Amino acid sequence: MKPYIFITRKLPDEVVEGLQDSYEVSMWDKEEMPVPRERLLEEAGKADALLTMLSDRIDEEVLEAGRNLKVVANLAVGYDNIDVPAATQRGIAVCNTPDVLTDTTADLTFALLMAAARRIVEAADYIKGDKWKSWSPLLLAGLDIHHKKIGIVGMGKIGAAVAKRATGFEMDILYHNRSRNMEMEEAVGAQYVSFDELITESDFIVCMTPLTEQTRGMFTRDVFRKMKKTAIFVNAARGPVVDEGALYDALVEGDIAGAGLDVFEKEPISASHPLLKLNNVTAIPHIGSSSIETRMTMMNLCAYNISLVLSEKEPKSLVNK
Ligand code: DGY
Repeated sequence: MKPYIFITRKLPDEVVEGLQDSYEVSMWDKEEMPVPRERLLEEAGKADALLTMLSDRIDEEVLEAGRNLKVVANLAVGYDNIDVPAATQRGIAVCNTPDVLTDTTADLTFALLMAAARRIVEAADYIKGDKWKSWSPLLLAGLDIHHKKIGIVGMGKIGAAVAKRATGFEMDILYHNRSRNMEMEEAVGAQYVSFDELITESDFIVCMTPLTEQTRGMFTRDVFRKMKKTAIFVNAARGPVVDEGALYDALVEGDIAGAGLDVFEKEPISASHPLLKLNNVTAIPHIGSSSIETRMTMMNLCAYNISLVLSEKEPKSLVNK
């Protein structure tokens, strides 16, 4: 009997076809709707491998159901949706998709920063909404990006790629991280500072940190109060790193000038969420790594990791080493 792989979301045929010679493969057939929990549990009970999305909660219950489960390959670099210690305890490999999405995610993060600073989405809505009646000197005037100070919280590979992009705009680069990255400091002239210094000094505060117990809720009302009133906050990491109520109050009360958000506490965020009612919020639906090229590469990396584990080889990107 061929090993069985369950894919939790509809992926392009070419990704699946590559696996079908050696494996039995089935797939949740909806592109825009996550697999229902009961089906996930049922499939985990049969599967040797799961190819999962960041929107799937792979907790102890799923892993316990996975009696034959050998690998969970997550279509993301982040893996906070997976209970990694519980997987390790059961000898289940957890794989992610690092490196292949670094530049694409950094491009999007910088685009979000620029869109928030220069009010691109608001301006596009303005013209399509037939509101443009005459040119005027301060029409949709935004904030400059060039020669400003960017503060990056979380200097992993994507953070470093964002810093590299900031050099093109001749920005001063500050960063805060668990540890210093000397190579990156030299490459882009970044300066390591305390979290407090970063939030008080930066014009753009860019959150790139993974979600952990240490980073959960780290952007509080107090933190936003310490930022410059002209600061723009950008989050392209994980929503729960931010206290969204605090961010809303900070935006409404003028503690900061604006925010660019790719991620939210609860995804998908509802259109009725108070944050989405604010003109100074540029919001997009968690599309950091979403270019066609990169998403295809990520899917193929997941498939490759699964095939390596199922042939008892070391996967390319193993989280629980
Ligand atoms: C990831 O891979 O973790 C990103 O959030 C996807 O955009």
